[in-house]
Amino acid sequence: MAAQLRAAHRRARALAALALAAAGGLLAAATVGSGPAGAAGPVLRDLAEAKGSYFGTALTQSDLNNSTVTALAGTQFDVVTPGNEMKWDTTESSAGNFNFGPGDRIVSFAKAHSMRVRGHTLVWHSQLPSWVSNLPAAQVKAAMENHITTEATHYKGQLYSWDVVNEPFNEDGTLRTDVFSNAMGSGYIADALRTARAADPSAKLYLNDYNIEGLGAKSDGMYQLVSSLKSQGVPIDGVGFESHFIVGQVPSSMKANIQRFTALGVNVAITELDDRMPVPASAANLAQQATDYANVVNSCLAVSGCVGVSQWGVGDPDSWIPGAFSGYGAATMYDDTYQPKAAYNAVVTALGGNSSSSPSPSPSPSGSSSPSPSPSSSPSPSSSPTSGGAACRVSTQVNAWNTGLTENVTVTNTGATAVNGWQLTFTLPAGQTVNNAWNATVSPASGTVGATNLAYNASVPAGGSTGFGFQATHTGNAAPATGFALNGVACTTG
Ligand code: XIL
Repeated sequence: MAAQLRAAHRRARALAALALAAAGGLLAAATVGSGPAGAAGPVLRDLAEAKGSYFGTALTQSDLNNSTVTALAGTQFDVVTPGNEMKWDTTESSAGNFNFGPGDRIVSFAKAHSMRVRGHTLVWHSQLPSWVSNLPAAQVKAAMENHITTEATHYKGQLYSWDVVNEPFNEDGTLRTDVFSNAMGSGYIADALRTARAADPSAKLYLNDYNIEGLGAKSDGMYQLVSSLKSQGVPIDGVGFESHFIVGQVPSSMKANIQRFTALGVNVAITELDDRMPVPASAANLAQQATDYANVVNSCLAVSGCVGVSQWGVGDPDSWIPGAFSGYGAATMYDDTYQPKAAYNAVVTALGGNSSSSPSPSPSPSGSSSPSPSPSSSPSPSSSPTSGGAACRVSTQVNAWNTGLTENVTVTNTGATAVNGWQLTFTLPAGQTVNNAWNATVSPASGTVGATNLAYNASVPAGGSTGFGFQATHTGNAAPATGFALNGVACTTG
């Protein structure tokens, strides 16, 4: 199954490359850069998916304006964590006034590139507006619950997971003192988890912290908490190990620590990996960084409940490290010019790839724009549309995880005239149920379904393409949909 999905994924990318080439008369590889983007070569997301895992990155709004970053992010990574855009200071900077625009932009980028989203974060002592930290204790619970409910409801069905509570522990494993623990004691964590589950039942709910990657007092604190939450039936699905390491200091007990958490019945995710060193970087430290990255990836791969690894930022220019740790930097797998470093090659090798190979480019459109051939660029003179119908070609791209999937569908109008208003019907494999769609309305949720255009994408010129996608749950069969027909006329696939 995984191999089939991967093959479908590659075919879809190859088609996208052809579409890009046809549209712009450009070699797709050129759009993502012969140079720094590193699009040619092994693809972390493909390698990770082949192992049943993922490789993610953090992205901020400003990253979305940098075509080098977006090309790399959309090509190499399959999970996105918004760097700041879902935090309380952005989403509810004054009481009751919610702003989801920045987070929504990250989510749309993710959807356009078939990436899952880790929501980050609902409750945290930092990046918290002063109106919350100054609330009288009696009002904190209601404010926290309202914040969680409103934000998690806004993103309902669209996120893979939520970091519900971020960084709740002190270094000695005791609970951090903040406005939430002051008002509600340790019970605020269970309350936050229950509130998040009620608002978005499909998101995996995580607690996330740093310096809990190895065995020790702080990870013991998290372990006791998770164990007690599980025994009380509080909804908790995973623990995020942030993994902001200093070169040479990845704990040797990391794998054992991951194992003890998964033995409690929760997943572990490596959520914010970076590995800093004094700058300018020495060759020895860059080599050690490669060893460190490989150790982290291998520790996760070795434990089946460790779902995947996310790096905090795409490359060294996007990293938060120089701003947060004076004199340190060079903490990611891509250097100042977005060239892959030794750490990247080490990760490729850890994921079972060949870092010296140079496979065909795996392009992704730079920026978040979707490739849309101009009407005259690739007409298909041989096909003539039936009146009211259409001649069409469909390609699909599925990303699946244990019980869910996203499928992106590209429909090309291969007829000689524009289609104005469309419905694409298709059949979902048994056990798949759509819970969310983008760029089309999809109904019903299972069986033979119809995807109907929205106002803005109703018209597809001759030779033009349009895309939409959906998220679905599955019960084991994550194959792509079949039997596509556009306005009642069967489409070719491939
Ligand atoms: C960081 C962001 O990357 C910075 O841009 C921001 O100024 C501070 O926060 N742990 C976390 C992340 O959970 O949210 C932090 O992100 C890094 C440490």
